[in-house]
Amino acid sequence: MNIYTFQHEADFNATGAGLIASLLHTKPRAVLGLATGSSPIGIYQRLIEMNQKGLVSFAKASSYNLDEYVGLPEGHPESYRSFMNEKLFNHIDIKIENTHVPDGNAADLEAECQKYDAMLEANGPVDLQILGIGHNGHIGFNEPDESLIGGTHVVKLQEKTRTANARFFPSLDDVPTQAITMGVGSILKAKQIMLLVRGEDKAEIVKRALTGPITSQCPASLLQCHPNVVVLLDQGAGRLI
Ligand code: GLP
Repeated sequence: MNIYTFQHEADFNATGAGLIASLLHTKPRAVLGLATGSSPIGIYQRLIEMNQKGLVSFAKASSYNLDEYVGLPEGHPESYRSFMNEKLFNHIDIKIENTHVPDGNAADLEAECQKYDAMLEANGPVDLQILGIGHNGHIGFNEPDESLIGGTHVVKLQEKTRTANARFFPSLDDVPTQAITMGVGSILKAKQIMLLVRGEDKAEIVKRALTGPITSQCPASLLQCHPNVVVLLDQGAGRLI
């Protein structure tokens, strides 16, 4: 596991964007695993700038997002589809039909999960999976539990996660109670994983995940088993490493 801690936000973003761009240079048809959250936003902005200057192209690439809330109306500003369109897809040359986010409004959520896994199976493996981490160690929306699920599934969000994400909604009551997430099995199948973490409030969980015991009570600790993980931390998140 290669862990880098950055003093300056610009270097964090340039390194993350650079890794994605060099993958696309060597493999224009790369399959990207993408994440929402605040940590990748600066990297997405940097990729937009590079794309608009002709320094990188997504024209042949495809993407699979990790997760989506269940039950937010289509076009809701806080849906992860809206986030991805607004923060990245609408501003780069990726073909929107090659971008995939689980459909949290599917009439049959179980069938949607199976469909998502079948697409990942057919078009994967993911070349580079971007990940963030929740305060409780979740990756995607795989919450700490006695056991974890391998494939894409519907999950009940923990109160800690709903509270952390309430800042994006008018009130806690408006935060969905369920989500669809890729499972840890699908995440760990990626050829390379880039974990992005920013903020002092994540320092404890970063330490547990990267140096503590490998346990389903901290899903991100499973990353210790993956042969090709790059971790980008800002100074706050890397304080205890
Ligand atoms: C949400 C998402 C996760 C993401 C996490 C971390 O809970 N479901 O996939 O990794 O936020 O977010 P941040 O990047 O803001 O630390």
